[in-house]
Amino acid sequence: MTKKKIAIITGASSGFGVEFAKQIDQKLDLDEIWLIARRQEKLESTAKLLQNAKGVVIKADLSTSEGVNAIKNLLEKDQLEVKILINNAGFGRTEKFEDSDEEYNGSMIDVNIKAPVMLTRFTLPYMNSGSYIINVASSAAYAPLPYFSVYAATKAFLLSFSYSLKEELKSREISVTAVCPGPASTEFFKSLKDKKVDGLRIEDPIKIVRKAVRDSLRRKSVSIYSYEMNFLRVVSKLLPRKMLAYFSGKVKLPQ
Ligand SMILES: NC(=O)c1ccc[n+]([C@@H]2O[C@H](COP(=O)([O-])OP(=O)(O)OC[C@H]3O[C@@H](n4cnc5c(N)ncnc54)[C@H](OP(=O)(O)O)[C@@H]3O)[C@@H](O)[C@H]2O)c1
Repeated sequence: MTKKKIAIITGASSGFGVEFAKQIDQKLDLDEIWLIARRQEKLESTAKLLQNAKGVVIKADLSTSEGVNAIKNLLEKDQLEVKILINNAGFGRTEKFEDSDEEYNGSMIDVNIKAPVMLTRFTLPYMNSGSYIINVASSAAYAPLPYFSVYAATKAFLLSFSYSLKEELKSREISVTAVCPGPASTEFFKSLKDKKVDGLRIEDPIKIVRKAVRDSLRRKSVSIYSYEMNFLRVVSKLLPRKMLAYFSGKVKLPQ
């Protein structure tokens, strides 16, 4: 019996997730694309945009163990091959850490870190050579970011995890790419009142995802879209972390 070839995308109800669904539907030969997030109607809208693969809507809250385990259970039910896993769901907001909400911080760590780690572990037994993992991190992964401290730390985790995993999975020919975008015009950004970040352009998510998919198919370790974010990556390698934190603390982040 031939196995169904599937893609799994978390955070497929808006922003980068919708774009990933549309673009991999065009680039890869897939039977199904599993679309995961909490908002069912939005996921159904994403499914309607697919022209080749069937969109499978999975309503799951990835801040909970039940949400993450629901995907494990679905994987166990069928004869599947996971061609690509895109750990994209994530959130964060700018605030002073001492004023931040404990529950909010816990959920952020669960969605931005725990869910991708668990999902990757569950999915690996269903991957063959030539498969892909994309982890959507952020340019915030490259430097400590005062007033965005927990979010930046979750993304630094994801970047480090991606590099280690890439090395471990080399022998199985499974590629791992960390995507590190700067500010982009998705719901993540639109929900903020102030839509500017000092001296930075707000990028188009379509272009960021186009480059991310291309870089993943070329088996690159990291995908960075803009010159500014590439510059940040280089600077982050040259300056001590203490100095990076000092300078990034001076950047006026959107609220
Ligand atoms: N936009 C930017 O400026 C920017 C820059 C760098 C990195 N990123 C990263 O890009 C990724 C995608 O964000 P985006 O910009 O596309 O923002 P977005 O439009 O707000 O999308 C976030 C996605 O994550 C899902 N999500 C959030 N909490 C969830 C939960 N508890 N369970 C399941 N799904 C959850 C949301 O779905 P539901 O609400 O329907 O659950 C939504 O589909 C995130 O990891 C973000 O950190 C964004």
